[in-house]
Amino acid sequence: MDFNSLSELLLNQSCRIRYATTSLHQLNNLTAEQLPEVNFGGSDKRNQEYLLGRLATKDALGLLGYPPTWVDRDSFTKSPVWPQGLAGSISHSSGLALAVVCESPPILGMGVDLEKANRAIDLRVAKHVCTPEESEDLHHLEQEKRTNRLLMTFSAKESLYKCFFGKIPKALLRFQNVTLNWESNKWTAQWQFPPGTEFSIDTTVGYWGIDLNWLWTVCWRWQCGFFKK
Ligand SMILES: CC(C)(COP(=O)(O)OP(=O)(O)OC[C@H]1O[C@@H](n2cnc3c(N)ncnc32)[C@H](O)[C@@H]1OP(=O)(O)O)[C@@H](O)C(=O)NCCC(=O)NCCS
Repeated sequence: MDFNSLSELLLNQSCRIRYATTSLHQLNNLTAEQLPEVNFGGSDKRNQEYLLGRLATKDALGLLGYPPTWVDRDSFTKSPVWPQGLAGSISHSSGLALAVVCESPPILGMGVDLEKANRAIDLRVAKHVCTPEESEDLHHLEQEKRTNRLLMTFSAKESLYKCFFGKIPKALLRFQNVTLNWESNKWTAQWQFPPGTEFSIDTTVGYWGIDLNWLWTVCWRWQCGFFKK
């Protein structure tokens, strides 16, 4: 499955970033011997999405020119354990997984999220997901654009969480501590922590697109001083 705008975005960066997707159809064509062991306590759906993510990751690593291996999962943090010198991120949704991988450094962390673009989202979740500034912006959009923007905001904040997990203290990695601004296929995240917090972080740039009725959002953290296109 090809995501045109994601391919273009990644090919346009000053370091190599690769992605791959895996669908249920691809997974179902494999035998148990071709897959890693997985056991999430008998939940078929969870086993399946885990395997989808691992297959996508393995393919993305191969595309980056690295051994296409199974990436483990940290049982405590639940985050993927990337091989030395690599970073990446995984998302799965409705029978599709998307994995993005890159060399690290120059990128120190990545976050990706995948959602069905027509996923129904209740506008009442805005008060949990959006900051007051974002809610104000939502208010000025017409109904359909409002639900789209809310889904995009939710997705981008899922990506940010994955990208900054372990970098921003967990107590500060919250929906209400980051405000997003949207322009064409790009979003910027302004972090604002409660007064008195001795922690600050630069604005983060992320990207989004809709391909084949899938919404994706992605962001990454550059090593300090590394040239950004
Ligand atoms: C962790 C979280 C982001 C996962 O997102 P999700 O929509 O449930 O699921 P996705 O399919 O998109 O992503 C799941 C994958 O994320 C990855 N992941 C899980 N925890 C992670 C972490 N702490 N750091 C980085 N990646 C993580 C895993 O690869 C996981 O798949 P796997 O378990 O099969 O390996 C979500 O459960 C969560 O906690 N969201 C909170 C977001 C938030 O608070 N944002 C505030 C602003 S930053």
